[in-house]
Amino acid sequence: MTALGLVVNARSVEASVEPRTHLADFLRDNLDLTGTHLGCEHGVCGACTLLIDGMPARSCITYAVACDGARVTTIEGLDDDEITAELRAAFTREHALQCGYCTPGMLISARDLVLRLPTPDERSIRAGLSGNLCRCTGYVGIVRAVRIVIDQRRKRGIAPVVGGGRQMLGPVGSGNARNTATVGSAAGTATKVEGRDELAGMMAIPDFTPAKVFSDRFTVHYPPDRVFDMLGDVSQIAACLPGASLTGVPTRERVEGAIRVRLGPISADFRGAARIERDIEKLSGRIVGIGSDQRSRSSTQGEIRYQLVPTDQGAATHVELSIGYSLRGMLAQIARDGLVRDLAARLTADFARNLDRHLGGDQLSGSIEVSKSLDGIPLLFDLLRTRVLRVIRRVIGK
Ligand code: FES
Ligand code: FES
Repeated sequence: MTALGLVVNARSVEASVEPRTHLADFLRDNLDLTGTHLGCEHGVCGACTLLIDGMPARSCITYAVACDGARVTTIEGLDDDEITAELRAAFTREHALQCGYCTPGMLISARDLVLRLPTPDERSIRAGLSGNLCRCTGYVGIVRAVRIVIDQRRKRGIAPVVGGGRQMLGPVGSGNARNTATVGSAAGTATKVEGRDELAGMMAIPDFTPAKVFSDRFTVHYPPDRVFDMLGDVSQIAACLPGASLTGVPTRERVEGAIRVRLGPISADFRGAARIERDIEKLSGRIVGIGSDQRSRSSTQGEIRYQLVPTDQGAATHVELSIGYSLRGMLAQIARDGLVRDLAARLTADFARNLDRHLGGDQLSGSIEVSKSLDGIPLLFDLLRTRVLRVIRRVIGK
């Protein structure tokens, strides 16, 4: 038996498995996740398709032990996923299923197409779904459903994610595996996994509906156009953000990085990637990111929307923020709403101060102090102090 640790549908799983156990069998037999269907068990029919590190993969020909350290998402884990919800509704409307046996795998492959195809091109959809066999429907309803979802999303201004986040070709699996490792595939070939940094580039960054949303604002004493330019420079943003660092060369649309957070006794290094959208006309932007921390087995999705508003006759700028996030895993157990909100407020305040000083010409590596991690302990005390004061005021009636 071999020890295995992975994240399945955002839940940490530790198990001991036979090295020959396939991922699909492990999920169905050990975790009761029977939404992953088995058809041919030879990698042909696509019924067993699921996501490994965000990429569609055949779980009938993937060894469970090859997924040590990976994030696995089955159809059950996509209950709250926005794209899957739209596809499910479209499948129902367009009669895209009969017996439903192929449907979980079909939805996962279709979701990948919705994520990355720029237009609802029928040929590309048929090619993209050619690895998923359906013996009931004749495919017409399935293709129509996928076309409709892509069309509607593009009309709503939701851009495709180039390559679904892939930056290289090759088999998926164990993208988060610890360090460089050689893993066997069920097809009998050996696949060299090049390490987490390179594979982080393969992560897709889907849209999502945040579980929590709150707003914040700060003022910078410089005109909006200068602030907007500065917010377009990803390296400078990272330098202003306490605990943040880049792990890859950023582009204007995408960045990969890490942020260290300490919350009470738990320290987490979230590594991930973010997609950047900017609208120069409206002086606004949006950053959508995903990240995970291996040690605390936690994962997060976050979205920051900002809008610059001129103030002081254009000499200064209000930065209006809307911050949304979903947190899963061990950190979610201790990170109560108020604590995360205060953590974000502290992060925003530090960021605003550093941004202001940097716009004033200070070099971040020199005179500006950027803390190495975002420490939650002072926040815990701040929070406790505020709550104790609130209780005292209530007791004495003030
Ligand atoms: S059961 Fe995996 S491809 Fe058919
Ligand atoms: S709906 Fe029956 S196999 Fe596709």
